[in-house]
Amino acid sequence: MTDSADRADFVVVGAGIAGLTAAIRAAEAGCRVVVLNKGPSWCADRAEQSTSTFYAQGGVAVVTGGDPADPGDPADSVDLHLSDTLAAGAGLADAASARPILADGYDAVWGLMAWGAEFDRTADGLLSRTREGGHSVRRIIHAGGDATGAAIQRALGARVTRPADGSQIDVRDEAIATGVVVADGRAVGVRYLRGGVEHAVYAPTILLATGGAGHLYAATTNPAGATADGIALALRAGAHVADLEFIQFHPTMLYLGPGGAARGRRTLISEAVRGEGGRLVDVDGRSVTDGVHPLGDLAPRDVVANAVRAAIVRTGHPCVYLDVTAVRGATGGFESRFPTVTAGLVASGVDPSSGRIPVVPGAHYLCGGVVTDASGATGVPGLLAAGEVARTGLHGGNRLASNSLLEGLVVGRRAAALAVSRRDLPISDGYAGAVSDGSVPRVLDRTVLQDTMTTHVALGRDAAGLGAAAGILDGAPRSAGPLGIRHVEDAALTLTARAVIAAAAARTETRGSHVRLDHPGTAPDAVSHAFRLDGDELVPADLVPGAVAGLVAHR
Ligand code: SIN
Repeated sequence: MTDSADRADFVVVGAGIAGLTAAIRAAEAGCRVVVLNKGPSWCADRAEQSTSTFYAQGGVAVVTGGDPADPGDPADSVDLHLSDTLAAGAGLADAASARPILADGYDAVWGLMAWGAEFDRTADGLLSRTREGGHSVRRIIHAGGDATGAAIQRALGARVTRPADGSQIDVRDEAIATGVVVADGRAVGVRYLRGGVEHAVYAPTILLATGGAGHLYAATTNPAGATADGIALALRAGAHVADLEFIQFHPTMLYLGPGGAARGRRTLISEAVRGEGGRLVDVDGRSVTDGVHPLGDLAPRDVVANAVRAAIVRTGHPCVYLDVTAVRGATGGFESRFPTVTAGLVASGVDPSSGRIPVVPGAHYLCGGVVTDASGATGVPGLLAAGEVARTGLHGGNRLASNSLLEGLVVGRRAAALAVSRRDLPISDGYAGAVSDGSVPRVLDRTVLQDTMTTHVALGRDAAGLGAAAGILDGAPRSAGPLGIRHVEDAALTLTARAVIAAAAARTETRGSHVRLDHPGTAPDAVSHAFRLDGDELVPADLVPGAVAGLVAHR
């Protein structure tokens, strides 16, 4: 490698919980870390933030693990958390990956607290715990009422900017990754665009922690940056993706009325509102989930979202309502327990004191993603993925509420450990200067893409709609520019939409968050579908052997 090459020990793409946890841990172990952050420089008071982490409301699902100082619910255990996770995952969550992730949760949360994150506590000083859909007990810790993600992002942002041990993290803001440099089958660097200029930075280990894909849809709970960047980067680098058809629709995204169907991020009404007594009712005041599931409004998220969809179809009314009158009584004030939700309602012109919040299902979380092991290793040596972009097997066909921050924390720490162990691997000469790979991506106009996905690939899907969507996506023209963040995002959305449609078409059954209106039954065997890119085609791939081959080569 030439001396002038921009070289680090570890390059992290993304600045949410998984990326910054990995960056901080690796830097504390002495690594030179570069973080490529698509958003602006971190500022806690910015009105719109760029990571989904910041917007996470409910909290972190975590089992205390017998700590006498903080016992939690005595009925809880990692086994029970695992069993809830597997039940929510609709047969596709992988116990072998999920158990160690869940078991490491408490230690990871303590690490986060040591970095300054503060969680809500009871009058006795114990961690407060709430309940969300699919959880058998109250095990979800939270911060600032419903501002858990914001508290975590603040702690991580402060730690990156002012590390306690003098370690240095080189955060490059407004830098969007355009490609992973792969040489001799290994990931050795990242190409990125910053200030209209293309650059490359090289390292033996690259972590994709780019978050989700909510902006595949016209309305989503996700911030503007959730444009599937990491899925596209990984596919183009040769990694496999799986379970992409499982896009989780949150049952309670704020409905803004026929005239208010604005494109982009909409306020989420946390499941914790139902955990504290909120009830879903249709326009006539009838329960939405009665007789649907024994856990009622606290059934797993796919079940509740589908019940909301069914209620909307049955009544012909465009939304259902979250009745929060019981919450107000139980907690001594909806506004103080749920300040983030309250602020979102007020900003959208909805009166929180009315006791009835109009809601619809909204695109919220990508359960599938880049196939990795429980340490974030993909099938491409040197390339890791963690957080929402990754598919570790924890979520299966439907993520259990509040398991995602936990996964980002735990796998972020493990990814850092891998990076530390690989820091001295040489990078051969000859890659520096490989700023562009010269390929011209397919790019569909974003509005057309979002409308296509919203119409044909949302909660309920069928073969005709998926075929129509595939036809529109396959017709996307190739476009070299204008080169900028928007163009890179649109190319990522286009490739990812094609992959989601291919995965949804291949799954001719209803399972988890994938509802096939033309195949309402669930097949006896649960099988994950993986894909890879072959030239411009998405082709079926092996789930396990690809990853295992990569893992062997990682070590
Ligand atoms: C919520 O607070 O309802 C969202 C939490 C999550 O998506 O895990």
